[in-house]
Amino acid sequence: MGLLMLRAFFLSLFALGVATKTPKLIDGAFIIELVDDVEGDGIYPRDFDQHAEFHKHASRLPFEYSVAHEYRYPGIYFGLSIRVSGNNDLRSPEFQLRDVPGVVSVNPVYEVSLSDPDFPGIRSIDNPLRSYTNPPAMPVILPKSDGDLSSTLEMAGIDKLHQLGVKGKGVKIGIVDTGVDYRHPALGGGFGPGFKVAGGWSWLADNGTAFEHDDPLITCYGGGHGTHVTGIVGMEPLLDGDKTLNISGVAPEATIYMYRVFDCLTNGGSTDRIMAAMLRAQADGVDIISMSLGIQESWQDGTDPLTKVAARLVDAGIAVIVSQGNAGSGSKYDPQLYRTSTPAELPSIISVGSIANKNFPLVYTFTDSQGATLSYASLWPIEFPDGLEVYLLDDGCAGTSKWDDAVSLLEDNGKLNNTIVAFPITSDCRDTGARGCCSKRSIPYIMGLYTNMSDPYNVAYEIPSSGSIGDGSVQYISVSLEDSTTLLANMNTTGPEKYRLYFNDTSYSSPAQVVGGKMDYYSAFGPIYLDYDLKPQISAPGGEILSTWPLGEQGYYSLLSGTSMAAPFISGCYALVKSQFPDLSVTEIISLLQSTSRPTKWVYNDTMTAGTFQQGAGLVNAYNAITYQSRVSPGQLLVTDNTRTTFGAVNITIKNYSNSTKKYELSHEGASYSEPNPPNNPIFSQENQLPIYGSAEFESSTIEVPAEESTLVSFKILPPTSGLNPERLPVFGGFIKVTSDNEEFSVPYSGPPYSLYNAQYIHVLNTSTSVQPQISYKFQDDWFINKGLLEVNSSMLYRSLIGRDQFTRGYRIDLVPANISIEPDFYGYDPAEPYEYRSSNTIPPISVFGLPSYGTLVNSTELLSPSTFNWPQGTGLKATLPNGTEYSPGPGDYRWLASVLRWGGDPDILEDNETWLSGVIRFVGDGPVTEPI
Ligand SMILES: *[C@@H]1O[C@H](CO)[C@@H](O)[C@H](O)[C@H]1NC(C)=O
Ligand SMILES: *[C@@H]1O[C@H](CO)[C@@H](O)[C@H](O)[C@H]1NC(C)=O
Ligand SMILES: *[C@@H]1O[C@H](CO)[C@@H](O)[C@H](O)[C@H]1NC(C)=O
Ligand SMILES: *[C@@H]1O[C@H](CO)[C@@H](O)[C@H](O)[C@H]1NC(C)=O
Ligand SMILES: *[C@@H]1O[C@H](CO)[C@@H](O)[C@H](O)[C@H]1NC(C)=O
Ligand SMILES: *[C@@H]1O[C@H](CO)[C@@H](O)[C@H](O)[C@H]1NC(C)=O
Repeated sequence: MGLLMLRAFFLSLFALGVATKTPKLIDGAFIIELVDDVEGDGIYPRDFDQHAEFHKHASRLPFEYSVAHEYRYPGIYFGLSIRVSGNNDLRSPEFQLRDVPGVVSVNPVYEVSLSDPDFPGIRSIDNPLRSYTNPPAMPVILPKSDGDLSSTLEMAGIDKLHQLGVKGKGVKIGIVDTGVDYRHPALGGGFGPGFKVAGGWSWLADNGTAFEHDDPLITCYGGGHGTHVTGIVGMEPLLDGDKTLNISGVAPEATIYMYRVFDCLTNGGSTDRIMAAMLRAQADGVDIISMSLGIQESWQDGTDPLTKVAARLVDAGIAVIVSQGNAGSGSKYDPQLYRTSTPAELPSIISVGSIANKNFPLVYTFTDSQGATLSYASLWPIEFPDGLEVYLLDDGCAGTSKWDDAVSLLEDNGKLNNTIVAFPITSDCRDTGARGCCSKRSIPYIMGLYTNMSDPYNVAYEIPSSGSIGDGSVQYISVSLEDSTTLLANMNTTGPEKYRLYFNDTSYSSPAQVVGGKMDYYSAFGPIYLDYDLKPQISAPGGEILSTWPLGEQGYYSLLSGTSMAAPFISGCYALVKSQFPDLSVTEIISLLQSTSRPTKWVYNDTMTAGTFQQGAGLVNAYNAITYQSRVSPGQLLVTDNTRTTFGAVNITIKNYSNSTKKYELSHEGASYSEPNPPNNPIFSQENQLPIYGSAEFESSTIEVPAEESTLVSFKILPPTSGLNPERLPVFGGFIKVTSDNEEFSVPYSGPPYSLYNAQYIHVLNTSTSVQPQISYKFQDDWFINKGLLEVNSSMLYRSLIGRDQFTRGYRIDLVPANISIEPDFYGYDPAEPYEYRSSNTIPPISVFGLPSYGTLVNSTELLSPSTFNWPQGTGLKATLPNGTEYSPGPGDYRWLASVLRWGGDPDILEDNETWLSGVIRFVGDGPVTEPI
């Protein structure tokens, strides 16, 4: 027999272009689910106390623990979370707890953060706990002719619903967040039954100390997030006297419950506490749980208790609406698919993407020494009619010391109070540049001047959250590129010493934003990895959103951006629909909102519809959802191999609620295609949205549906025909349009543009020999790849490389007799070569696909991403049995059988796996072996 040996060299095959971030564990913290006897299956007597029984057993374990949360919600979640200290055992507490009778599962507790990218300063402000017990009066501002604080409501048809009196009456919305300043006049001014904020709970004091009480009040700016989110859901316009601001939340007549799980520094979020909050909300009878939070990382698979609870609450009829997360990047070259956050990783939990406000709400004017009238974006106007001097800090982005020098200089010259410090905004230093300002003392005014930046997101007005700079009293304004240019030129002409800016305008305009109505750059891309379900499912205004803020100087309102702001908007829309159609299920309401949404264009190229992986169904329109006389369902489609032989077969149902026959036109609108694993290195050379579209094949493009009837339409969605490479993990998508009279539905879809079942799973190239699946052994100084047969002994070092090109839920390597009778998909040797089998004395104790196996080297049922990085390696190969025993089967001939489970397949069926069979590993016991030639 011929031996074919090659010197092995190892390369990393490819790195998946997806951010993988490990979630942050809380040390020694565990969530324990206990058997829930609600079904009355008679295992336990009626008055049996599950928790007491747990403690009886757990008290004998070799560690101390304290209870953080107890969950007693029969039918939803039964269990507790604990903090462990002083474990005296080699086994981790997690494993020991699993053996306690009555324990269903034990999971670690993770840290959770709020979804808000424009909150960076909030943790660095001098006094995050700063609050106002006697807040100063709110400044008075009035609209100019184009002043419009209702732009986000107009974007979603909500202004029209409010005119019809549809305001969410009777619907209860639970918000899990930082707490709320319900003293705010727009939020009802009080707390408890009869008030807008009717109930809630808090698990924390302002400073983060655990403190359970029934009052979710916060008054600090640092915890303003929850007040802002609450306003988006349900603030009232202020229309009387000195408090005037005509801005409304989406569902101002809904009742709000606030569950406080973050402190004034937005610390404190943990999965066990958020579970406690959600469970309490369901006990309070809410219809919706709105959560602008999440763990932003990849590769979760829906098994975390937080996700489990969220999914069970949806099953119980409560909508769980979560922000998609802000892991999106400002670069159009960043390949960024599959970035959905926990707990939004299951299809039933609604994840919301963010769209930029069509207008920037508050822009005022000032005049300069040359008589020019210029505009600035700011929350409140500056009032300084005598004229401010301008100090230009060219290196305002260079950090704190530059600001300190400037501030000292101004202070020494007695000019601090009548000067505005201006700095140029660059792409890596937007409003954040100003955060270096005030390490020694606060200054009254800062002005960001836009410079020439080509990216539309970089030139859109942006201002930080109110009170987040310096001691909270700094007024930050920003000036557009055009006006910044004029200002600098005029300052030059006048001479910087004489140049002044006169601020006396207290009326605002609300100009259109360049990026208005488009997806925001930070809004993270889906879809769900492996299953390709649409994420986000829908989008809403979330960029430059004006809403309520804790009371105080620079307070009352704030402009924030984030998917944090988009999620409560959808919660409000859900409440509006629920108030009109109380009998619809969660799925029906979400479908209605999705199918009546409007697709948006890609911000970088208006000729392209933004990918459904970015926008989901697009911009919500609650007016359409409530007033249309037809319904199209489902609200989203998953396109892949519905059976293993057909691709893209889908159904939609059209129901005509009107009293006459309607004719519907069917059509297809392609949306952008994306691949996270582009071909070139560096990976940032291909745009992350490409004009590559699928198509739809309808039997007929028009359908008539009689009054009060519904029709099922079956059709096929075909993938794009060019440019596909499954190894790059591409995603395509689009919309199925259904139009009739004045009604226009669009049902989003997404999926891989190839058959997942039939894809190649094991990384085997036709072209290159260096990166094929392989096992190598180290002889003296050199590694040798097994290409047919390697004679090895039990002390030798081995390693392997078996790459996977696709996501999978099953990956297994068995050690099998070398004469196994199987036809693998790939051979690690030439099967035509003659070979004489030397039998092992061990009888194979287990089986794989009904064939003998000595045990496994890898046996994973977890969701795995494409990778080359988990390969078995070590000294002295051992097989593992199902009970965990490892052993060496002794001298004889063996092969490795690697199997990777196909999408939707059964791990026990050979055809449902892709397999690779290695060359022969000939064990000679401990004896000497010679280096192969
Ligand atoms: C935190 O706040 C609580 C409640 O106000 C108070 O009892 C505790 O002393 C504070 N802890 C610290 C470290 O300031
Ligand atoms: C500047 O303003 C601050 C705050 O209003 C005040 O305390 C301080 O006295 C003022 N300084 C001068 C020089 O006017
Ligand atoms: C200001 O004037 C100087 C000298 O005339 C010139 O070099 C500079 O470019 C001018 N700067 C601006 C912003 O116009
Ligand atoms: C503001 O100041 C400018 C320049 O001094 C003046 O022309 C204008 O009338 C003033 N506006 C108001 C509302 O006082
Ligand atoms: C926009 O996309 C179209 C294809 O849809 C392409 O032809 C055009 O060149 C793109 N425009 C820019 C400015 O990239
Ligand atoms: C579409 O509907 C038909 C008829 O009810 C059904 O047989 C088929 O399985 C459905 N297809 C899908 C993909 O749901």
